Amino acid sequence: ESGKLWGGRFVGSVDPIMEKFNSSIAYDRNLWEVDIQGSKAYSKGLQKAGLLTKAEMDRILQGLDKVAEEWAQGTFKLHPNDEDIHTANERRLKELIGDTAGKLHTGRSRNDQVVTDLRLWMRQTCSALSAHLRELIRSMVDRAEAERDVLFPGYTHLQRAQPIRWSHWILSHAVALTRDSERLLEVQKRINVLPLGSGAIAGNPLGVDRELLRTELNFGAITLNSMDATSERDFVAEFLFWASLCMTHLSRMAEDLILYGTKEFSFVQLSDAYSTGSSLMPQKKNPDSLELIRSKAGRVFGRCAGLLMTLKGLPSTYNKDLQEDKEAVFEVADTMSAVLQVTTGVISTLQIHRENMAHALSPDMLATDLAYYLVRKGMPFRQAHEASGKAVFMAETKGVALNQLTLQELQTISPLFAGDVSKVWDYGHSVEQYGALGGTARSSVDWQIGQVRALLRAQ
Ligand code: ARG
Repeated sequence: ESGKLWGGRFVGSVDPIMEKFNSSIAYDRNLWEVDIQGSKAYSKGLQKAGLLTKAEMDRILQGLDKVAEEWAQGTFKLHPNDEDIHTANERRLKELIGDTAGKLHTGRSRNDQVVTDLRLWMRQTCSALSAHLRELIRSMVDRAEAERDVLFPGYTHLQRAQPIRWSHWILSHAVALTRDSERLLEVQKRINVLPLGSGAIAGNPLGVDRELLRTELNFGAITLNSMDATSERDFVAEFLFWASLCMTHLSRMAEDLILYGTKEFSFVQLSDAYSTGSSLMPQKKNPDSLELIRSKAGRVFGRCAGLLMTLKGLPSTYNKDLQEDKEAVFEVADTMSAVLQVTTGVISTLQIHRENMAHALSPDMLATDLAYYLVRKGMPFRQAHEASGKAVFMAETKGVALNQLTLQELQTISPLFAGDVSKVWDYGHSVEQYGALGGTARSSVDWQIGQVRALLRAQ
């Protein structure tokens, strides 16, 4: 006897190198709890279908509880023949309750079993990730609300562009994350579909009631086609893509904060809790948390691209290639959990240097507003842009700031300039002009805060 659950047709033994190559227990042991959950539900299905007596079912249920207890207490002993979590749990069940254990797998295949387990596991994990993500967004909105009156430079091409509220910057990232949060809910919906009862490929021939399995395991729906159910991993790909996109957002925000934290910018200072020092240069305080957030994005993208490559061109239906889905899911789930929590920590403990932010604003950033001033006096925008550009050039040539040009000098560019042009040079006045919904005016920032909070409540 080969000691394998599939040993019947084998006479030769497996090469030890192959044994190790084939084995997934090192990582799919993560699924121990959901595997037991799935088996308990399945034994109820078997009992209802008349394939187990009530006594047999109870024996199996109690046995499975014992196996679970061993895992929970860390006393479960792996056997060299346990190639994956499914074979390990069944092997142990048989040791505990004897031959009745052999009835549990009736009509079931590891093909429908493993994908049921994975969906159960991902369902739980996505709920936890969703909570972490919402917590992060909440911490960003709280900051945005508390620091609404702080102004600083907004950049395009990393060149000073226009004055904005600091809160407007925070919300720009928070708003992107709300879409990730929404996307995750969508993905969760498609994860929450029951494949159990699909067998290896053709379905279940023994009258198992899949609706009962669905209720037992609290799935939202049942899969429509047994071939699709056992071999499709689009829900995994979607999860990995969700994570990739969320990491894109987080790494962009991290990059901004790394830059804003340099001595050259000095807009923000990372708390000690999320920084590290240099073993050589005593003065250093490095933003390692943010750099790691930025770098983890690459790792997550790699997992997403890797899984898609595994799936591409696979013949229908289950192929062992699919065993590779789990490491991607586990690694990305762990990474996302850590990244989301660290980001929340970074954001909620960050110090901002308001004076440096204010000092970084310069009159040239008001050139656009100078053009709008002329527009308000009736000049077509293209001409106003040209006139303001001339003023910038004049100031540069004279070696003075844009707001140091005299009214007489401005009037040589356009007679529409008048004494009230002095209002243009007020940064507070500048941001308040951008009051259309979505802009950086106080009223619009308040509106954004309200919208994001409402989204969080609705999720
Ligand atoms: N460990 C396998 C996996 O993770 C379980 C399914 C094995 N099925 C099979 N037909 N060999 O995909």
